[in-house]
Amino acid sequence: MSSFYNERTVERTAIALSELLDGHPVATFVIDVDHVITHWNKACEHLLGWGTHEMVGTRQHWQAFYTKPRPLLADLIVDNIDPATDRNFRDKYKPSSLIDGAYEEEDFFPNLGAAGHWLQSTAAPLRGNDGKLVGAIQSLRDVTERRVAENALRRAHDNLEQTVRQRTAQLAEDIRQRQSAEEELRRRNIELTELNETLSRTQQQLVQSDKLASIGQLAAGVAHEINNPIGYIFSNFGTLQSYLDSLFCMLDAYQEAEAAIVDPVVAARLRAMRDQVELGFLRTDIPTLMQESKEGIVRVRHIVQDLKDFSRVDSQQEWVWADLRHGIDSTLNIVSNEIKYKADVVREYGEIPDIECLPLQINQVAMNLLVNAAHAIGSMRGRIEIRTGCDGEQVWFSVSDNGSGIAPDNLGRIFDPFFTTKEVGKGTGLGLSLSYGIVQKHHGRIEVESVLGQGTTFRVTLPKKRPPNEQKEATS
Ligand SMILES: Nc1ncnc2c1ncn2[C@@H]1O[C@H](COP(=O)(O)OP(=O)(O)OP(=O)(O)O)[C@@H](O)[C@H]1O
Ligand SMILES: [Mg+2]
Repeated sequence: MSSFYNERTVERTAIALSELLDGHPVATFVIDVDHVITHWNKACEHLLGWGTHEMVGTRQHWQAFYTKPRPLLADLIVDNIDPATDRNFRDKYKPSSLIDGAYEEEDFFPNLGAAGHWLQSTAAPLRGNDGKLVGAIQSLRDVTERRVAENALRRAHDNLEQTVRQRTAQLAEDIRQRQSAEEELRRRNIELTELNETLSRTQQQLVQSDKLASIGQLAAGVAHEINNPIGYIFSNFGTLQSYLDSLFCMLDAYQEAEAAIVDPVVAARLRAMRDQVELGFLRTDIPTLMQESKEGIVRVRHIVQDLKDFSRVDSQQEWVWADLRHGIDSTLNIVSNEIKYKADVVREYGEIPDIECLPLQINQVAMNLLVNAAHAIGSMRGRIEIRTGCDGEQVWFSVSDNGSGIAPDNLGRIFDPFFTTKEVGKGTGLGLSLSYGIVQKHHGRIEVESVLGQGTTFRVTLPKKRPPNEQKEATS
């Protein structure tokens, strides 16, 4: 252990308060209970610019800080006044966390130096050995640099916040503009989609009328070409029938006269010839053949008539009053080849009045529905039922089949152009969309009911008359 610590007694030298304070680098002054300055250290002189000899013994400590007399923190302590009750200190002081009854304060003093100074003060009571208040001590630290830096920092911070606010507002505006641009785009897109749909509907109608026109022309051409030869075959057939009747009468007469032939050679030759040509058979078979041929020709004439009805080239795009049942019948004949090997067709026609329509186009609808029904029927022979009926101002026809049915997922799409479940080459997927367009043009509706695996019914309902405004358009 060093001798320093070994000393039993240490010589104690009392250090006078003024020496202590003068040696202390923090500006400090002391006042007594009468507010008279007792100490004003060197650091105080240096910081505040007032000398010790000017201040000690006076009550002028205020003048180092202010232009007019007013109490400092030390004065408040001496007078036992709570700074909270003094408007000069109320918002600036805080009690010291270290010393009971001491206060701290930070303030700007504009009269100090050239541009003023920020000072942090601490004032504490001084008590004698008996605990009685003998004065107050106040020390001051120049915190200008820190405050300036803090202020600069605050300003920078405020600027930054201002910039952030501006940017945020700008960003919000940008987002708003972008949203409205997106909204505008979406709107345009919807407009375009609608336009596109209108365009594709128009195109379908064009395709449709083109298709109808060419089918109609072809049908009309074929019908016209066949009509003439069938006409004379039919009339010749009538003549032929009467010639044959005469010939058979003549033969009967010859047969009766046969018994009178005396020459046995001639008689034998006649008999042999009759056996050879099988005259008995010919007599029964020729009328049968004639009857069958006649039926055939009647059917051909019928088909030709149907072709002409179906095409109606002469009144192709004209609204006329027509019986739906005739249109359906002629269409059935046209598509019979598609249907007859697959299904029995049952017609249950209810009474219906003529309606104002474009018959060629309605035939086209019936044809699509009939062919679809036939296609829906599988390998087993099926059944197609066609019904007509009348409901107030509306007339309807329906086509039902007991075929495959339509899957619920597909039900919403069957009227879409090009939607088909058929293999390539068998379906274009246009039939129902064209039919839909035609029915709409007639201000009617087309409805479907289907059970998968059991069958489907399409029902087309049409008004008896066109709306009056459309009729005016047509006549003007
Ligand atoms: N009666 C029906 N039974 C079952 N499915 C049907 C029936 N009618 C229509 N469909 C379904 O609706 C689809 C669309 O029919 P649509 O008539 O529009 O076209 P498509 O018959 O396939 O071809 P297209 O008629 O152009 O030759 C069909 O592919 C089929 O899947
Ligand atoms: Mg079809």
